[in-house]
Amino acid sequence: MIQFINVSKAYKQHNVLENINLSINEGELVVLIGPSGCGKTTLLKMINRLIDPTAGQILINGTDIIAQDPIELRRNMGYVIQQTGLFVHMTVRENIEIVPHLAKLPQDEIVERTVKLMEMVGLPQEFLDRYPNHLSGGQQQRIGVARAFAMDPGIILMDEPFSALDPITRSQLQDELVNLQAKLRKTIVFVTHDMDEAVKIADRICILHSGDILQYDTPENILKNPADGFVSEFVGSKRIWSSPELIKAKDIMIRTPKITYPDMPMLKCIEKMRIENVDSLLVVDESEHLLGIIRARSIHAAPDKSEPVHTVMKPAQATADPNENIVALLKKVNSNNISNVPVVDENKRLLGLITNSSLVTTMSQQFIDFEEGEA
Ligand SMILES: Nc1ncnc2c1ncn2[C@@H]1O[C@H](COP(=O)(O)OP(=O)(O)OP(=O)(O)O)[C@@H](O)[C@H]1O
Ligand SMILES: [Mg+2]
Repeated sequence: MIQFINVSKAYKQHNVLENINLSINEGELVVLIGPSGCGKTTLLKMINRLIDPTAGQILINGTDIIAQDPIELRRNMGYVIQQTGLFVHMTVRENIEIVPHLAKLPQDEIVERTVKLMEMVGLPQEFLDRYPNHLSGGQQQRIGVARAFAMDPGIILMDEPFSALDPITRSQLQDELVNLQAKLRKTIVFVTHDMDEAVKIADRICILHSGDILQYDTPENILKNPADGFVSEFVGSKRIWSSPELIKAKDIMIRTPKITYPDMPMLKCIEKMRIENVDSLLVVDESEHLLGIIRARSIHAAPDKSEPVHTVMKPAQATADPNENIVALLKKVNSNNISNVPVVDENKRLLGLITNSSLVTTMSQQFIDFEEGEA
């Protein structure tokens, strides 16, 4: 775990970071994001002591790093920067193996590890004998990542590692980082300007502005509940649409769907539907467990309408979990050709209802936002 405790940094009289308190858990990928000059790189470089704070403490697993030898400290941290920082006069192999050699690891172990690192970043072994400027930008950046992992460090610091790449390569490398992280669970601190990148890769996002932390939360919570006007402008109202999987059933469901009970006579149900202006009711027991659905047309077809409604009720064709996302919901609605999906918890208790019209309203919101944005 990395902890910043009341950390400030000033150059001459100018405060660059003010009273930063921030905890990054082991195995977590945290993205630092904010406008140019807000102090992202400064914050990152304090972790490997390329910069020391003016005030405050930085603890790694409970130990103040000021007491540690910076060289020793950096050996256990990978560091990837935008211009790769590869040494142009060294081959790819020499670049990757430089720190393991300095650390005097056994030669056969180093060679074996390099093979694995090349596989990990998806590059052929014959690249090992090439020089960095005989590789594309994306390939160089992959070597940068391989080098950062060379000592199998617990912590990896990445300062806009993908920002100089074309959008397709960039997106590929983001995917690869997410895959790698799912397997390796390193503690990664990643700096970017790009909110799409942050949302895609982060476990948590830390939004910085003029040396302050404005919000530190999961991508989902930042998109849904921006802490203030700056954050919501920075995030952008349309942003959620680049990540529709963040819109969940619980966000768009009707929280008080119209219900009835199994022993209710059909006549009463018809009356309720008429008053509420709906053509179906959800049937629940006294603890609100979902039993089924009753539609007006099933009641109309029934010969004796004084009978209890459970005699004609149907089971729900599909139900949704509150955390199911809108993409999955749309598929469910389309493939079952249904207009209502009850939302239930793991014990089948009714929480709400997704209707076709709530889906349509949510989907059309994006077009309204786009039009406003363009106007
Ligand atoms: N050595 C230095 N001396 C004086 N001021 C500095 C020094 N290094 C950085 N700064 C200032 O500190 C502030 C934060 O710089 P930093 O590099 O951390 O920003 P950043 O958020 O990484 O910006 P960018 O997105 O452009 O990389 C800037 O205003 C910068 O000018
Ligand atoms: Mg920077």
